[in-house]
Amino acid sequence: MLYNVLPDKTASIFDVGCGTGLIGEALSKAGYSDIVGVDISQNSLYVANNKQVYKSLHKFDLENPTPLFNNDMFDVIVSMGVFTYGHVKPSALVNLVSYLKNSGFLLLVIREDYFNDDTTSFHEVIKYLRLGLVRQEKFYLDGREILILLYQMQGKMAQSGLNTSY
Ligand SMILES: C[S@@+](CC[C@H](N)C(=O)[O-])C[C@H]1O[C@@H](n2cnc3c(N)ncnc32)[C@H](O)[C@@H]1O
Repeated sequence: MLYNVLPDKTASIFDVGCGTGLIGEALSKAGYSDIVGVDISQNSLYVANNKQVYKSLHKFDLENPTPLFNNDMFDVIVSMGVFTYGHVKPSALVNLVSYLKNSGFLLLVIREDYFNDDTTSFHEVIKYLRLGLVRQEKFYLDGREILILLYQMQGKMAQSGLNTSY
């Protein structure tokens, strides 16, 4: 899905919650080379580093971010299996998208039940951030529906006003 909207293989990609580097590997195989990964788990980062597909890897807590990155740095943010129960809350997206360039893309791979769970307020966060849905696909894993959602920034949002207690 990403490859269609991002033919430029030099595009800067931010893999948030990269884990052991599965996404980095797939992107590298597809020809992308400018991939930065972050994760809270140092052990996962060691494994990802051994794959030699990331430009850099950093220990980083998406819910308590340190000033490690600049605004408008990345063309794309990708996240697979990170925004879910027991991991990262949707409010972390508010900080994350500040790293996206104007008109940058956000690719989320996310459980359908989590995405549509009213208590997570995912839809509210997406609306607040003015992310426009470009494409949506789904697949099933262990009988569970998984969504692949490709969003594009529609212009930078105001940095206040969202209830980040979700
Ligand atoms: C299900 S794994 C997915 C890993 C990888 N994206 C993949 O698809 O293989 C979720 C990842 O989110 C990371 N994670 C959980 N909470 C986090 C946080 N607050 N900040 C950064 N990473 C976090 C975990 O360490 C784990 O690597």
